[in-house]
Amino acid sequence: MEIENEVRRLYDLPSEELYALSKSACRKYYGNTVFLRGLLEFSNYCNCACKYCGISTYNKNIPRYRLTPNDIIYSVKKYFSKGYRTFVIQGGEDPAFSDSDFCNIISEIKNITGSEGALTLSLGRKSYKSYKLYKEAGADRYLLRFETSDPIIFKQIKNFTDLEDRINALYELQSLGYETGTGFLIGLPGETEETIIQNLILTIKLNPHMIGIGPFIPHPETPLRNIPQGNIEIVKRATAILRILLPKTNIPATTASFSINSDARSELLQIGANVLMPNIGPSQNKDKYELYPGKSCSKYSNDYQLMLNAVKAAGKTIDNRKGNSIAFENNYGGNS
Ligand code: 5AD
Repeated sequence: MEIENEVRRLYDLPSEELYALSKSACRKYYGNTVFLRGLLEFSNYCNCACKYCGISTYNKNIPRYRLTPNDIIYSVKKYFSKGYRTFVIQGGEDPAFSDSDFCNIISEIKNITGSEGALTLSLGRKSYKSYKLYKEAGADRYLLRFETSDPIIFKQIKNFTDLEDRINALYELQSLGYETGTGFLIGLPGETEETIIQNLILTIKLNPHMIGIGPFIPHPETPLRNIPQGNIEIVKRATAILRILLPKTNIPATTASFSINSDARSELLQIGANVLMPNIGPSQNKDKYELYPGKSCSKYSNDYQLMLNAVKAAGKTIDNRKGNSIAFENNYGGNS
């Protein structure tokens, strides 16, 4: 009840007051530093029929690609030597990769980075057994957004699968010792203010180490093509509320936010986000990992430079360490 009252109180604060609180919470735990995560989108094949997602089975007009394990290792090596210390391996739920394929990729990456680097997986809903195998192979972190806290909206947009199962997956990941990330979309059809408040409450209850919040952006090749895009001001306010209530969590300024508003990246960094995720994949595939149209890394040739500009505009600097969340360090004991 206390959490709920706190969320509602912050939700009603004027933005100026809210952002003053979130800025100081961020400064207290993360100073003015921003962590970089090298994002490698390894496959846009996906078995899922999520109605919002541009790489879902609904999209018949997108060229599909998958990187080979060697391509993946090549990119990690290249960016490790440039100073990156966290790698995020993200893809659609592509049946061509078996658990043993992933385990080989994971252990090769960990051979390159050693304990200096952290490896994050974002492979969707897998079984407990798979999550356990990946952890044993050396994976450190896992990202799995719950997308919405409303079970009815969840069922509608995620092809009759259950929110409860998604939440169970997050508990499984936490129980295996992953540094675990979750988050949600703003602007899904059927959503009300109360849904957003419940999204915030659920996030706090899950007590994650990382949180990603982005605006929904309609993709023309999906059933939600005519739904208006999410409101960036709400994304900012939700980010600020979570920074205040979960101050030790890593929170990225998400690419989707920047894609609909080019000032959003620096604004989010200013009000409490502390992570950026530059794309490190081969450039010929960037356009094809089209979760939503206008993904900033495909629209602009030098997204990395734009990220540096945003960091500077926010008065922050890049920290090259692997950057565990302080929440994780406290729960599981420190290692960085
Ligand atoms: N608009 C914004 N974000 C999207 N994602 C997927 N499709 C869209 C879209 N149309 C987000 C989901 C997913 C993450 C990898 O990308 O929240 O968890």
